[in-house]
Amino acid sequence: MGLGLQEEEEFDQMKLRSLLFVPADSEKKFAKAQESRADGLILDLEDAVAPDRKAIARDMLGNIIAARPDRNWSLWVRVNALDTGLTLSDLSAIVKPGLDGIMVPKSNGAADIQRIGHYLDALEVRAGMARGTVKIIVVATETPVAMFNLGSYSPPHERLAGLTWGAEDLGAVIGSVTNKQSDGEWTQTYRIVRSMCLFAAAAADVARIDTLYADFRDEAGLASSCEASRQDGFTGRIAIHPDQVDTINRCFSPSDADLTQARRIIAAFESQPGIGTIGIDGKMYDIPHLKLAHRIVSAAG
Ligand code: COA
Ligand code: MG
Repeated sequence: MGLGLQEEEEFDQMKLRSLLFVPADSEKKFAKAQESRADGLILDLEDAVAPDRKAIARDMLGNIIAARPDRNWSLWVRVNALDTGLTLSDLSAIVKPGLDGIMVPKSNGAADIQRIGHYLDALEVRAGMARGTVKIIVVATETPVAMFNLGSYSPPHERLAGLTWGAEDLGAVIGSVTNKQSDGEWTQTYRIVRSMCLFAAAAADVARIDTLYADFRDEAGLASSCEASRQDGFTGRIAIHPDQVDTINRCFSPSDADLTQARRIIAAFESQPGIGTIGIDGKMYDIPHLKLAHRIVSAAG
């Protein structure tokens, strides 16, 4: 009320700070992944599973996904891309109570998400789930045409929970010999891709999830990379190894000082209803600061 902010609902979004990939054909890794403190696990049916293991992995997943109201992590499945012809079989096996969402790889734009949304509408009815239960995270930059359709994700599809990006698959299509400079930074091409994903996710007002950090033994490198990514505006990151999860959680959580200041800003606005600009400690704060403060408090849980 008052300032007309519609933030409350948005802040209820599932926590998507750390999302740990687990190959869907490995029960051992699934067990191990549950011991991590990842906000979400993404069971992968796509590139982490060899072609002749896909059907087995899909069957295994069907058994793994079971309603577990006590768990404090969300369960996601990365399905195979639409052009493989496998997507519908994947969805048919996994849409059941207990599934929080799917990750869609190699999306070419919002039209792909519309189509998958229709599949989900039908499969949720079959599974006795409320319509719209299954959310979608999109890997939004894996084809060249996808780069030109990033604006199509806003206004967001009702199921859209986040956007992330990938450098490997795009590189394979456009013929990049490398995506990293000698100093380990992304090349210009992939910095553009990364920023475009950030803009698209911000435009749609969904989680902005940075891509994986491949060198899973380099904790210091991961930490500084995550710090840079949080400063840019990313809200979370993909993990590929359980050892990466705590670093990611730490980097994408506000510090105590951030939190204290955010609470002060919110309290100051609440104490002066209807006022759009206030001063605290000689500094001006207006609506964008209030929004950011709400974001920070909400991210802290
Ligand atoms: N989820 C759960 N457990 C994992 C894991 C993951 N993503 N990655 C590693 N582990 C487990 C290993 O099985 C091993 O378990 P153990 O001690 O019981 O034997 C332990 O963690 C230590 O693993 P480590 O030896 O450090 O790595 P590895 O060589 O076994 O595995 C990878 C390296 C890259 C194969 C593995 O991290 C992995 O499968 N990552 C996910 C890949 C994926 O899904 N990619 C798709 C998105 S790009
Ligand atoms: Mg890939």
